[in-house]
Amino acid sequence: MINMLHIRNYNNGTDRDQVIELWKSIFNYKSARNDPELSIDNKLKINDGLFLVAVKDNNIIGTIMGGHDGHRGWIYSLCVSPESRNKNIGTELLKKIEERLIENGCVKINLQIIPSNKGVKLFYEKNGYITEERIHMGKEISENIP
Ligand SMILES: CC(C)(COP(=O)(O)OP(=O)(O)OC[C@H]1O[C@@H](n2cnc3c(N)ncnc32)[C@H](O)[C@@H]1OP(=O)(O)O)[C@@H](O)C(=O)NCCC(=O)NCCS
Repeated sequence: MINMLHIRNYNNGTDRDQVIELWKSIFNYKSARNDPELSIDNKLKINDGLFLVAVKDNNIIGTIMGGHDGHRGWIYSLCVSPESRNKNIGTELLKKIEERLIENGCVKINLQIIPSNKGVKLFYEKNGYITEERIHMGKEISENIP
């Protein structure tokens, strides 16, 4: 059992440092609004049960965040550590967050892929996602970014 993969809710007491390290090594976000500390603190304020980690041998080897605003569900921060890839862990994380979003009544799940990472489309296609023609727009809220 000890070596088994376990997917569970994020625990700020035990997981924070490992998750931050994992995100920094995989996503390498440049903008302050994507700072891992800020993202985690903001998610903890919402406390919606949509932040999961994959754990093996007490190590965090993957994460996924979901969001549900009552209208749409969203997937964020899906990652698996490079040495644990292609073992279905990403798919398991995705399925688990989908289950939670579906339990919430979510009728559609969206996600975004940055252009430099478009290869990952294949992964999502294998999991039932399709590309939709949209113009994505956004606005930064500077007063909430330290
Ligand atoms: C995407 C990611 C979470 C998949 O995790 P994983 O545990 O390796 O995924 P699974 O083992 O469940 O699925 C692997 C399948 O997805 C495919 N896949 C995963 N990433 C891919 C990529 N970038 N390009 C093409 N195919 C990819 C694999 O080829 C494999 O296909 P197969 O089953 O036909 O061999 C992982 O590659 C990752 O952390 N990537 C970096 C972070 C990232 O891009 N996150 C998504 C942001 S939108």
